[in-house]
Amino acid sequence: MNVLVVGSGDLGTEFGLRASRAGHRVHALRRRAHLLPAPLVGLAAELPGPLPDLPTDIEVVVITIAADGRDEAAYRRAYLEAPARVLDALEDAGAPLRRVVFTSSTAVYGVEDGSEVTEGTPTAPTRATGEVIVAAEVAVAARRVPAVSLRLGGVYGPGRERLLRRLRAGEAVLPEPDVHTNRIHRDDAAEALLHLATLPGVPAACYLGVDDEPALLGEVLSFLAGELGVPVPPRGHAPRSRGGDKRCSNARLRATGWAPTYPSFREGYRAVLAGEGVRHP
Ligand SMILES: NC(=O)c1ccc[n+]([C@@H]2O[C@H](COP(=O)([O-])OP(=O)(O)OC[C@H]3O[C@@H](n4cnc5c(N)ncnc54)[C@H](OP(=O)(O)O)[C@@H]3O)[C@@H](O)[C@H]2O)c1
Repeated sequence: MNVLVVGSGDLGTEFGLRASRAGHRVHALRRRAHLLPAPLVGLAAELPGPLPDLPTDIEVVVITIAADGRDEAAYRRAYLEAPARVLDALEDAGAPLRRVVFTSSTAVYGVEDGSEVTEGTPTAPTRATGEVIVAAEVAVAARRVPAVSLRLGGVYGPGRERLLRRLRAGEAVLPEPDVHTNRIHRDDAAEALLHLATLPGVPAACYLGVDDEPALLGEVLSFLAGELGVPVPPRGHAPRSRGGDKRCSNARLRATGWAPTYPSFREGYRAVLAGEGVRHP
């Protein structure tokens, strides 16, 4: 299979390396293409600007571009304009496209009451940036080539250690009231992208990409404090979580045969603390 990764940073590169190991030929597009490791074939472009010559034999496009900022304009450039630019060019060149996999986010949901969320839960983003992500899912789904969106929870992994840094700095607070968080290790997210890129038949329009265990943030922080050997943070007022309060189910993705290597934050963070893996620049 000939694959093009659009916006190949940490997640896209991990996906690309796994796809290469599975025998696929992977081109990867980003601004700093010189950072891409072999055997990925780098293509440099600042999207949605002019494109280099794209290979015309691309069959699967995996979109992992990230926005440069948290404002709506940056989101529109990254999630709407950049993918459209690449997919238009591939379609115009007559590429034999069979599937587009779009990396989406659980930010498409507006659930705040701790209830269960599935792919059938209506999207209701609480921010303009979430609305752009919903629009981006709709835009890829409206193209001629079949598209699938992977709605990822909070990605953590090697070098992605925001919670650990806050705990080490003594800045963490166990939120009162507590909220659920939904996480996925970077490697499980990359494997889910590969799984959806290669799934036989016609995948569903979207899948939730989270581990097996939605967890209270206080529980995650208490566990990590224990692993780090620092005091469990005090309970207190914490800024409202960007992720709302929801318990995302991975049942649909699991039913297709994907299973996380790190079923919960415990296994995943233990691997991070053991220094396993690298963050791709
Ligand atoms: N972090 C989370 O918890 C989370 C949750 C849900 C979904 N996601 C999504 O997962 C995806 C991948 O995340 P990540 O952590 O792998 O991000 P990342 O490491 O920041 O990688 C993003 C890539 O996009 C490229 N890029 C950005 N703007 C570009 C532009 N204008 N033209 C060309 N390339 C551009 C960057 O290229 P250069 O570095 O060369 O500039 C980089 O390679 C993103 O869509 C993110 O929103 C993340």
